[in-house]
Parts: sequence; structure tokens; C-alpha cells
Amino acid sequence: MNDLDAYRRQLVPPINIDESIVARGNSCSENDSAHGLSVEMIEHLKLLATAVCCADDSVVITTANLEFPGPAIVFVNKAFTRMTGYGPTEAIGRTPRILQGEKTDRTILERMKLDLKDGGVFYGQTINYRKDGSEFVNEWHIEPIYNITIANR
Ligand SMILES: Cc1cc2nc3c(=O)[nH]c(=O)nc-3n(C[C@H](O)[C@H](O)[C@H](O)COP(=O)(O)O)c2cc1C
Repeated sequence: MNDLDAYRRQLVPPINIDESIVARGNSCSENDSAHGLSVEMIEHLKLLATAVCCADDSVVITTANLEFPGPAIVFVNKAFTRMTGYGPTEAIGRTPRILQGEKTDRTILERMKLDLKDGGVFYGQTINYRKDGSEFVNEWHIEPIYNITIANR
């Protein structure tokens, strides 16, 4: 099982973070609470998912694997699609390297790896490429997400 499959297995199907949450609004179905989450928790998750989906800033969530084959994209929001031209079905399961090209600065990417391996936050920018091949300056703020058990320790 690869990283992406492992991530998908952790998701409770009805709260998959995708646009269906936004489309369904904030009401909970019996199906949601059948998965052992309280109605309040489901409402809260839907609220957060809606906010992330509709944020003006591009949001990308990847698996944590920094070694080859590297992180795989598990979520992109609408702003990511506006910025890059890649929709969710085109981006999810692929590596963020799809955005790289000739002018992408490898030294920044190496620093990103080192900072993230140290468990730190990474800020940086370099040239990336949209789906149509045009260049843009991509500025990142990347933060590791730990599972709730670790974060609460
Ligand atoms: C959360 C996250 C987001 C990333 N987003 C981008 C991105 O938008 N553009 C990019 O060029 N690389 C991005 N990367 C970096 C690549 O996925 C990869 O880690 C980087 O190229 C270094 O790995 P490599 O030496 O195997 O290429 C991201 C990495 C992570 C962990």
C-alpha cells in the first residue's frame, strides 16, 4: 500500500474533503453520525472544509513522504486550480513536481526538504509552471500536520 492509499484508508467516507461537502451544505445525514463522529464534530469539519475549499489562497495537502517518489497530492482547493490550471482530479495522486521546470530553483527545494525533515515550517519561493506551461512565482508556507494524538501530547 502506498502513502496515498494509506491516507485514503484513514478518511471516513462521508467526510472526504472535497467539493461535495460544500455542495451538500452544513446539514448532517444519519450516514455521518453512523461513523462514530458526533453531529457537532461533523458540522465543525464541514465548516472548516468549506472555508479551506473556498479560500482565496491556494491550499495543497500532500502525504508526508519526502524521499523518492516524494510527497503525493491528496487535496487541492479551488484557488490552487485557478493558480495552476490543474483541477483536483488532475492533481490528486500526483507529485507537486508537476509544477516544476527549467527555472525552478533546486536549492530552494533542497532547503524545503531539510526544513521539513527537521519537523519545521518552510517559507520560500521559486518559479513554477502552470498546466499551460506559463511561468509564475510560487510562494510557499508549508507546515507539517501531525495526527491529533501527537499534537495533543
Ligand atoms: C506540502 C508540499 C507542497 C509542495 N508544493 C510544491 C509546489 O507547489 N511546487 C514545487 O515546485 N514543489 C512543491 N513541493 C516540493 C516537491 O514535492 C518535492 O518535495 C521537491 O521537489 C523535492 O523533492 P525532489 O528532490 O524529490 O524533487 C511541495 C512539497 C510539499 C511537501
